[in-house]
Amino acid sequence: MKKLVTVLCQLLVGGTFLLSGLVKAIDPVGTALKLTEYVQHFGLGFLAELSTALAWGLALFEFALGLFIFFGQHRRLFLTLGLLLMLVFTPLTLYLALYNPVDDCGCFGDAIVLTNWQTFWKNIVLLIAIVWLIFDRKNVAGWLAKDWYAFYFYAAMFVVAALCFVGSQHLPFIDFRPYRPGVSLRQLALGEPAQGEQSAQYFVIYEKDGIRQEFLLDSIPDEDSGWEFVDTRIVEAPGNRSSDGKTHSLVLFDAADQNVTTEVLSDTGYVFLLLSPDLRTADEHDMDCIDNLYEYAMQEGHAFYCVTLNDPQAVSRWSYRTGAEYRFLYADQQEIETMIRSNPGFMLLHDGVILWKSNLSGIDVPALTSAKLSEQSYGQIRPINRKKRVFWIFAWLISPLFLYLPLQFIYKLIKNKNKKMRKKIVAGNWKMNTTLQEGVALAEGLKAALAGKKVNCDVVVCTPFISVASVVKAVEGSVIGVGAEDCSEHDKGAYTGEVAANMVASTGAKYVILGHSERRQYHGENNAILVNKLNQALANGLTPIFCVGEVKEERENGTFKQVIEGQMEALYTLSAEDFAKVIVAYEPVWAIGTGLTATSDQAQEVHAFIRASIAKKYNAEIADNTSILYGGSCKGSNAPELFAQPDIDGGLIGGAALKVDTFMPIIEAWK
Ligand code: 13P
Repeated sequence: MKKLVTVLCQLLVGGTFLLSGLVKAIDPVGTALKLTEYVQHFGLGFLAELSTALAWGLALFEFALGLFIFFGQHRRLFLTLGLLLMLVFTPLTLYLALYNPVDDCGCFGDAIVLTNWQTFWKNIVLLIAIVWLIFDRKNVAGWLAKDWYAFYFYAAMFVVAALCFVGSQHLPFIDFRPYRPGVSLRQLALGEPAQGEQSAQYFVIYEKDGIRQEFLLDSIPDEDSGWEFVDTRIVEAPGNRSSDGKTHSLVLFDAADQNVTTEVLSDTGYVFLLLSPDLRTADEHDMDCIDNLYEYAMQEGHAFYCVTLNDPQAVSRWSYRTGAEYRFLYADQQEIETMIRSNPGFMLLHDGVILWKSNLSGIDVPALTSAKLSEQSYGQIRPINRKKRVFWIFAWLISPLFLYLPLQFIYKLIKNKNKKMRKKIVAGNWKMNTTLQEGVALAEGLKAALAGKKVNCDVVVCTPFISVASVVKAVEGSVIGVGAEDCSEHDKGAYTGEVAANMVASTGAKYVILGHSERRQYHGENNAILVNKLNQALANGLTPIFCVGEVKEERENGTFKQVIEGQMEALYTLSAEDFAKVIVAYEPVWAIGTGLTATSDQAQEVHAFIRASIAKKYNAEIADNTSILYGGSCKGSNAPELFAQPDIDGGLIGGAALKVDTFMPIIEAWK
């Protein structure tokens, strides 16, 4: 039951963030306008400049947060971020609910309009759900494997960023607002024309010496009177409730402050509306488009108006700069912004009905002006199938989930093809753990376990010197190769206790471990000694398994790559031909015999680093053909994940190589 509540909370919180990020991304201009309202209200007007960047950021952030919570990834981090976000927004929405500075919060853009109180309660529910999730984090479900999720995350974020881009450069991919093709603007604006005309009042707000004053259109102060334009205010006509649940009251005034809404919208022919919420910030790049459409409209006898905010200075500047001859009409800025998200943009009406709307670059002017409107598609309603568009967005968002497996399959095919060149190896390092009899018994046990099995990698056991010869004998006729754990740096002579490489080779052994961290640590082996040992081994036909790896401090202080590169220098003294005979083993010292394994990502990172370093020293072909094994608490349970990494070619196994039962699953990890 508890688990079910947790999963429901996860879906609710994740889903809510996903939805709110998505709708903001669909209409980034609308989101930016809302943010501008907020920052201006809270006296942070300087941020208004950044509102577009903030809108993108907020949309992408909310969506990413939603993805992480919905799919239960990096729970601690993203639930904490979610909590912080709610701790900021919940008091803010309480303030909005109490004082109503903006009439809807914009959480879900214009897609779902909530009252400020509804928003506040929604946030309370989300806050409780997040707190629950934080307390019961362990039950938060992780739906996808890490790599799968990572792939999906980038794909989904790409879709959302693309929606932001389309919404910013063109018009929103889905228009949530009521002014859509096929809708009667006449009906929307003049639901009850008589009432509307009587009650709508248009005020212009100016400021001088810190004093703000509202003026009716016919009493606007002169340009040189020192009054600065600030804003406009409309006292609403009753208007109509429309699909977004809001009252819309498009009221159009002419320069003489006459309400001309009825006159303009009663036109039964075609009416071009050039819409600009603010001419001061309108894009002036495509004046030809406006001029050509205006000329065309005049030729064909269609009405053409520019509907904008009543800012006489901006209008006269615009007219001067563009040579505009068309008639200007004035409307509430917010209403114009609701009508079109671009500045400027066009809307074409016929008999009061919206046929289409577009930003300037979206209009094929030569095509439009080449024929009469009634004879071409620009003269018809260009409907946008919103359901279809919603479907496509979901299709784009969901399909990458299913793309991962086939892509991974192809990737694996390619990867394995590349990997084919180098050997896959599982080697045991018995260290100082087996007597002669125990060693022989272990070797025989392994031989028996492997008999008749399909083995997909080379199997090697490296044993103490005293048992090398016997083990070679014991495994005769099997796939198992045998090696020693060390050899002398000298070829022969008075080195009591030492075993030369040719002695190892004389037993029939083929491998020798060199540079193991335990020998570096307890026997002071350094690069100079190891270069000699390498040469001895190679001269006697042994394959060196050369170990490198950092200690814990070096991992923690981030110097591990330099350390490994330094250890590799001993190998880099070899000719390319000799180097090609070597097997490298990466064994992080902190992971040896400690039960701590490097994660597959950590191991892969170092293996790729080693391979790149080899490619730099020799060439890509040699690097590609070098087997690099991982060692350090490698077991049957973690071997499959480690071996699945593109640069991990097998393992050098300590503790788990001492029993057939624990060694076999590691060999079998190579499927
Ligand atoms: P463990 O597998 O016991 O950690 O040892 C690794 C090792 O040192 C192999 O050479």
